[in-house]
Amino acid sequence: MTNFSFDHVLVLGAGTMGRGIAQVAAATGSHVTLLDNDEARAKAAHDGIASSLERAVARGKVGADERTRILAAIRPSTDLDGAAKDADVVVEAVPEKIEIKRALFARLGKTCPSHTLLGSNTSSLSIASIAQDCPAAERVIGLHFFNPVPAMALIEIVHGRQTAQASVDAAVAFALRLGKDPILVRDSPGFATSRLGVLLGLEAMRMVEEEVASAADIDKAMKLGYRHPMGPLELTDLVGLDVRLAIAEHLHRELGSETFRPPEILRRMVAEGRLGKKSGKGFYDHGT
Ligand SMILES: NC(=O)c1ccc[n+]([C@@H]2O[C@H](COP(=O)([O-])OP(=O)(O)OC[C@H]3O[C@@H](n4cnc5c(N)ncnc54)[C@H](O)[C@@H]3O)[C@@H](O)[C@H]2O)c1
Repeated sequence: MTNFSFDHVLVLGAGTMGRGIAQVAAATGSHVTLLDNDEARAKAAHDGIASSLERAVARGKVGADERTRILAAIRPSTDLDGAAKDADVVVEAVPEKIEIKRALFARLGKTCPSHTLLGSNTSSLSIASIAQDCPAAERVIGLHFFNPVPAMALIEIVHGRQTAQASVDAAVAFALRLGKDPILVRDSPGFATSRLGVLLGLEAMRMVEEEVASAADIDKAMKLGYRHPMGPLELTDLVGLDVRLAIAEHLHRELGSETFRPPEILRRMVAEGRLGKKSGKGFYDHGT
């Protein structure tokens, strides 16, 4: 893996994250296969990238020629084995379900060439567990991008106990090529971002529960006092209270720390369907 090439990037899953990853990889000169098991979704993702680039051209952020080049470099597909056989890097961004990811990495380990870096964009699952049935587990690594991918600088590179140092080096080189700023994190529940971010969110909820201050004032405290671009409760509304509850339950189970026990207010709001921005109501009213 020393002469690592990033010529062909295979992105698995053409949803929110897959689209962004494909766009950024194509913008930095790779040929990208954007693969989904649903053909209509793969095509729709290509159209979605075209619209997003159109807006970027209108704002003067991307030139018209550049837009055409990026779009031409992204090929929607449903043929996994065909695309895998000459992929240099795979970035898996299918739903957060361990059985789907495990099966995909088992297959990729058999079909990809011996140099392919096998990355997963999982936001919480164990990399070792994803790599469990993969015959090339030393090349499986977490490449955790953030939403929206073209705008967010961070990539969390998560190395499992089975990940080879050469794979970590390749992942860092890949992240830098994409113009991202990588951090290295050992495969542990919640990695660095979710573990800290969720903790702050849960504590803010407990403070609302105890009537320490209003949600708006707790958010203001972190924005004005600590220069956070967004308060922990605003962020919870954006991410979705159900998503945060699932992560908190996972971290509480895996880390065994009471600090991750989901507060009653979170459980109650999720049960009432107050999921944040997507449902119109959370800690804030977002209209319907
Ligand atoms: N959405 C976020 O803000 C965010 C941020 C960081 C990481 N993540 C992680 O990224 C991953 C993807 O999240 P998303 O929000 O883009 O999901 P999404 O639901 O928007 O997209 C997933 C896509 O995968 C496709 N898919 C399902 N099974 C497949 C298979 N076997 N082969 C190929 N394609 C398949 C689906 O048709 C869908 O288009 C998850 O692991 C998630 O935890 C999400």
